[in-house]
Amino acid sequence: MTRKNRANFGSKIGVILASAGSAVGLGNIWRFPFEAGNHGGGTFIVVYIFCVLLLGLPVMIAEFIIGRNARANTARAYQKLAPKTAWKWVGRLGVLTGCLILGYYAVVAGWTLEYIMQAVFNQFKGQQAGDFIAAFNQFSTNSWRPLIWLFLFLLGTHFIIVKGVEKGIERASKILMPSLFILLIILVICSISLPGAEKGITFLFKPDLSKVNSELILAAMGQAFFSLSLGMGCLCTYASYFSKHTDLTKTALSVGVIDSIVAVLAGLMIFPAAFAVGIQPDAGPSLIFITLPNVFQQAFGNFPVIAYLASVLFYILLAAAALTSTISLHEVVTAYLHEEFKFTRGKAARIVTTVCLVLGFFASLSLGALDNLKIVGLNFFEGLDFLTAKIMLPISGMLTASFVGWYLDKKIVWGELTNSNTIKAPLFKIIIFLLKFVAPTGIAFIFINEIGLLNL
Ligand code: PHE
Repeated sequence: MTRKNRANFGSKIGVILASAGSAVGLGNIWRFPFEAGNHGGGTFIVVYIFCVLLLGLPVMIAEFIIGRNARANTARAYQKLAPKTAWKWVGRLGVLTGCLILGYYAVVAGWTLEYIMQAVFNQFKGQQAGDFIAAFNQFSTNSWRPLIWLFLFLLGTHFIIVKGVEKGIERASKILMPSLFILLIILVICSISLPGAEKGITFLFKPDLSKVNSELILAAMGQAFFSLSLGMGCLCTYASYFSKHTDLTKTALSVGVIDSIVAVLAGLMIFPAAFAVGIQPDAGPSLIFITLPNVFQQAFGNFPVIAYLASVLFYILLAAAALTSTISLHEVVTAYLHEEFKFTRGKAARIVTTVCLVLGFFASLSLGALDNLKIVGLNFFEGLDFLTAKIMLPISGMLTASFVGWYLDKKIVWGELTNSNTIKAPLFKIIIFLLKFVAPTGIAFIFINEIGLLNL
């Protein structure tokens, strides 16, 4: 597509909300708490915040620069900015990663639909912690139920993608994101007022820096990339729809702040409640699905109508947050197929949906019927998560940072950060320094250390 006929986001706030809509999702509300729970709570959060500031934000700005300057899907963007070089593989790697993530992300997104139904039919009423654990296990190991939800979720994503960029994504984000934020705050208040909640707050905010090791740093870094939607050209593709007046640095900072606040709020909603009812913080992927129904029951025990409404609303908004993320994952791959292979958007979208259905099928069954199919100790679901979040995203982030830090002409970078000299870019030097030195070496170091080539 040419510069003129690529769609554009309509407004400044629309840009921030749509990018934040991609960033805020199950990564913050489902994945962040369980990764934090697996890695000691407060310690994880401190390392996570460093990863966002030193690695995540610079890479986000780099993706914005590439996307808006090239005005093309992520794979084409590299080809345009670095013709006839191997850099195009960074874009292609991103597209592949996006597709793999969508394959298992949509499974969890489907779970949110099951929980909407359970909430609507008031099935949480009168249940205890043990019942929620049993119910989740029964559901997630069941063969067909999660598959139906997976199918429906991907179908919904598919239709929004086919409707086009501006209308679908922007309109939805404007309403859903603020509502989710407000509900989260209400639930945090409920959770921290449960008896016994203090232990959860201590767990979350008392770091023990002696526990920092390379596995924890890799997990925090992977989570930062995952949560900020980085390393797969997602924000790069979005930035190709930004207008020339969008302030890239400010947009990145806003998205980073919103995303981190939502993650910490999710932690504050989950852990006090988990400790209050004796659920282990390292329960893994089931954590939010077994903890939250408890919050609704216990916090609003005397007001069943409020408990009912809060639970229905929460799962609807969680599904919506997941949807804005699945849309963006889908968009990366669809835009690539549409623009590179000249498929119609409809056909490109159908291919993506089908591939993700197949991946999701195996990911979902690997938690039940196919759970003995393991590679290096991980089932298919865990394997996709590990491969994408802990290997592919960091590698791609490292290459993106190096591309803008070392390869790209600094005049282009300056032009993008100052909108062709019309706004100031006080952070220019720091951004270049982080992109040139800190992000590439930091990521490489963590990586090499974790795969055991170095033993620090
Ligand atoms: N950042 C999203 C989340 O936190 C997940 C995602 C990853 C979306 C990569 C798009 C691209 O849920």
